[in-house]
Amino acid sequence: MAQERLDKIIASMGRYSRREVKQLVREGQVLVDGRIAGSAEEKYDPETAEILVAGVHLGYRRYTYVMLHKPSGFLSATEDGHGETVLDLLPKEYRKMGLFPVGRLDKDTEGLLLLTNDGELAHDLLSPKKHVDKVYYARVSGMLTQEDRDAFAAGMVLDDGLICREAGLEILSAGTESEALVTLHEGKFHQIKRMLAFRGKPVLYLKRLQMGSLTLDKNLEKGAFRLLSEKEIAQISHRQNVQ
Ligand code: URA
Repeated sequence: MAQERLDKIIASMGRYSRREVKQLVREGQVLVDGRIAGSAEEKYDPETAEILVAGVHLGYRRYTYVMLHKPSGFLSATEDGHGETVLDLLPKEYRKMGLFPVGRLDKDTEGLLLLTNDGELAHDLLSPKKHVDKVYYARVSGMLTQEDRDAFAAGMVLDDGLICREAGLEILSAGTESEALVTLHEGKFHQIKRMLAFRGKPVLYLKRLQMGSLTLDKNLEKGAFRLLSEKEIAQISHRQNVQ
């Protein structure tokens, strides 16, 4: 659909006049696709833009899907008595929607984190039966080798008995520190750190880049978020049906 001015889109919903909309925009009370609107003259597609005015959704969508670029130092939880959680990175309005992170990243892991209030989708994305691959960038201490790659490809049983299924290890650089892309088909606690430590190459830095069809938006700064596009929602919802 053609793009229209923000004040026109909001005023057409009948609740505010154009003048009121301009004032609300000036006050920073209008969020479009997760960002504070800078001007009432900005143009958006009224069919796809997710508009919140003073914390209230205009237009109806049953569930909310947020892509967050998680920085280090935040827990993947909805509440915590001691530290900050990823929900603390969202504006107040978003904290009342019942959003939760789909799977966990360690406190010091960065990158792609999906938050939603769609329990069914979250369950499907995390179900081992659905084979939703996750791709991480890892920097490790020590030289990654072909043997490490083969060990990942074969799967491994760690010292503590943890069975890790086969995983991808694409070595990007190798030296006293090495870099790699790791692809997991499952998500066990501290899995990448444990697998790489088992190979004698402890993780120095870890960042998730991809989860199924969803890729971390390169334009999202650390700590920033945006709503998923309709296309992304359709893709991840479709993905869950692919066995
Ligand atoms: N593997 C880890 O070790 N940590 C994460 O946060 C994700 C995968």
